[in-house]
Amino acid sequence: MTYLLIGLLVLWLLFAVFMILLCLEVGATFIIRSAPEVPSSRRLRDAVAAEIRKNYPDAKTAIDVGSGWGGMARRVAREFPKMKVTGAELMPLAFICSWIARAVFGPRNCRFVLGDAVKFIKKSKGFDIGICYSGTGLMRAVAPVKNKFKIIIALDFPLPDAKPTRTIQLHKDTLGQHVLYVYEK
Ligand SMILES: C[S@@+](CC[C@H](N)C(=O)[O-])C[C@H]1O[C@@H](n2cnc3c(N)ncnc32)[C@H](O)[C@@H]1O
Repeated sequence: MTYLLIGLLVLWLLFAVFMILLCLEVGATFIIRSAPEVPSSRRLRDAVAAEIRKNYPDAKTAIDVGSGWGGMARRVAREFPKMKVTGAELMPLAFICSWIARAVFGPRNCRFVLGDAVKFIKKSKGFDIGICYSGTGLMRAVAPVKNKFKIIIALDFPLPDAKPTRTIQLHKDTLGQHVLYVYEK
């Protein structure tokens, strides 16, 4: 009987924590007017990985700006084991999921931080590669810190007021035509 009660209490606590995180998540989405955490598809991750493999195989550090559920950061880290990959995400629930997935499945050369990615980048020493798959709002916020990167790889949303070094037309799907914008310093 005691075990049953303890079990129910633990389940109830887990549910309460989940609901609090969900409210924070929905609240934050409204406050920062961000797009919800739409994860990149496997094909988009493949395209980013292919671009790095082809042109920047020796890059040592990368950051996924707005890492959502962590799929892109983990994919890049897995493909380039010598690269240190950071994922920075504002939404607590998505961050926790990415943190758990990384703790359980790896890879070890990947880490996740919770908070405003732009503030984090400003305080950092900089990164070889910045990966962005975010709406125009976040791209506008990234523009003033673009010098913190040697290369920016942006999916679908270009950096404002910057001429890409390369523009690559990717595939079309239900979200429309996907485009990869590459900016070199
Ligand atoms: C389209 S999702 C991309 C997720 C991930 N990069 C991927 O490829 O699967 C964009 C993410 O950026 C996050 N975001 C928006 N503004 C942010 C900010 N200022 N700092 C950190 N993350 C932010 C959103 O919460 C969302 O999860």
